[in-house]
Amino acid sequence: MSILAPTHITLSVAQTPASVSPTMDTPKDPPLSDDDLPPGYRWIEGRAFASENPIYVMPMDSDELDRLNEMQHTILNFKAPVEEDLKCGISVLDVGCGTGAWSISMASLYPSSTFTGTDLVDAFLDSLGSITPPLNLTFQVVDTLKGLPFPDASFDYVVQRFGALSFSELQLPGVIRELARVVKPGGWIEFVDTDASPHGGPLLTELWSKVNLMLTMRDINATKIQCLHEDLFELGFEQITYNQVLLPIGWGPSEVGSGTARNLTRAHDSLKPQMTLVLGIGNSEFDRMAEDAEEESKESKAYWDIYYTFGRKPEISNVE
Ligand SMILES: C[S@@+](CC[C@H](N)C(=O)[O-])C[C@H]1O[C@@H](n2cnc3c(N)ncnc32)[C@H](O)[C@@H]1O
Repeated sequence: MSILAPTHITLSVAQTPASVSPTMDTPKDPPLSDDDLPPGYRWIEGRAFASENPIYVMPMDSDELDRLNEMQHTILNFKAPVEEDLKCGISVLDVGCGTGAWSISMASLYPSSTFTGTDLVDAFLDSLGSITPPLNLTFQVVDTLKGLPFPDASFDYVVQRFGALSFSELQLPGVIRELARVVKPGGWIEFVDTDASPHGGPLLTELWSKVNLMLTMRDINATKIQCLHEDLFELGFEQITYNQVLLPIGWGPSEVGSGTARNLTRAHDSLKPQMTLVLGIGNSEFDRMAEDAEEESKESKAYWDIYYTFGRKPEISNVE
C-alpha cells in the first residue's frame, strides 16, 4: 500500500477548466416541482438526480459536478502501463466520465491520442466553461446498461473511474463485460474506484456503514470493488494487476489533504438526500453525524482505499 505522492496531482493544474458552469445550478431555494427541471431529472430533497439510473445515489447538479471536478484534480493518475502509447497516439474511452475532467486534462496532455467520454447525463461540455474543448476529445450521452454504441475492439484503452458503484451487484459483471468488449486485442482496461469504506475513527466508520447499508438496499455491493481483478480474470484478460492506494483524508501532502477533507464534506452533502430518505434520518441528525465524523477524521488520520485494477486483452479473445 502506498500514499498518493504529490506528483500524481500536479498534472491537471494548468490543464483543467478555469471555471465550471454546469447545466443545472444546485438550488439554494429549491423548486418543488420536477417541471422546473430539464427532462431526465427529478428533485429529491432539493437536489437534482438523473432519473435514468434510479439506483445511482449521487445527485448530478452543480455542487456535485464541482465536487467531481475537484476530486479529479486530486486523483488524475492512472496505473495501466499506457503512458508511452498515449504519447504516440492511441484511442481512449472514458466510460461514465461525469464532467469529463479526467479526459479533458488527458486530451491536453496527450494531443496525439483521441479521447471519447460517455455518461448518462450531459454534464461534459458545460464543465468546460469558456474553455474550447480539445480537438482530440468527443462526448456522447450513453447509458452503459443499454450497451456502448461502439463496435467490438474499438479502443486501445478503456477506463471507468469511480463508476462501479452506479451499478447493482447483478448489473456489474455485464457492465465490465461490455467495457471489455470494446477493448482492442492487446489493449488495456482500467477501473479506478473506492470501496466506500473509509478507514478512520468510530464515527466515520459508523456513518459509512450506514452509507453501505443504503447501497445494499439498492443491491449495490461496494466490496465488489476489491475484486474487479477476478472479473477480468474470468474474461480471459492478462497481466491483471490491482493496486490498493491509500488516499489520506485531511492529512498527508497538503494538496491532497485539503482536497480530500473538503471532498468528504461535499460527498456527505451529496449523499444526504438519499440517506435521510432511505434511512429515515432527519436532515439535522445527518448533518450532526457528518460534521462529527469529518472532525474526527482530521484527528484519526482517516484514509480511503483507492483500487486501481487493470488488465490487458489477449490478442485472441472471446469477449465480444
Ligand atoms: C461518481 S461519478 C464519476 C464521474 C467521473 N468518472 C469522475 O471520476 O469524476 C459516476 C458517474 O457515473 C455516471 N453514471 C451512472 N449511471 C450510469 C449509467 N448507467 N451509464 C453511464 N453513466 C452512468 C453518473 O452520471 C456519474 O457521472
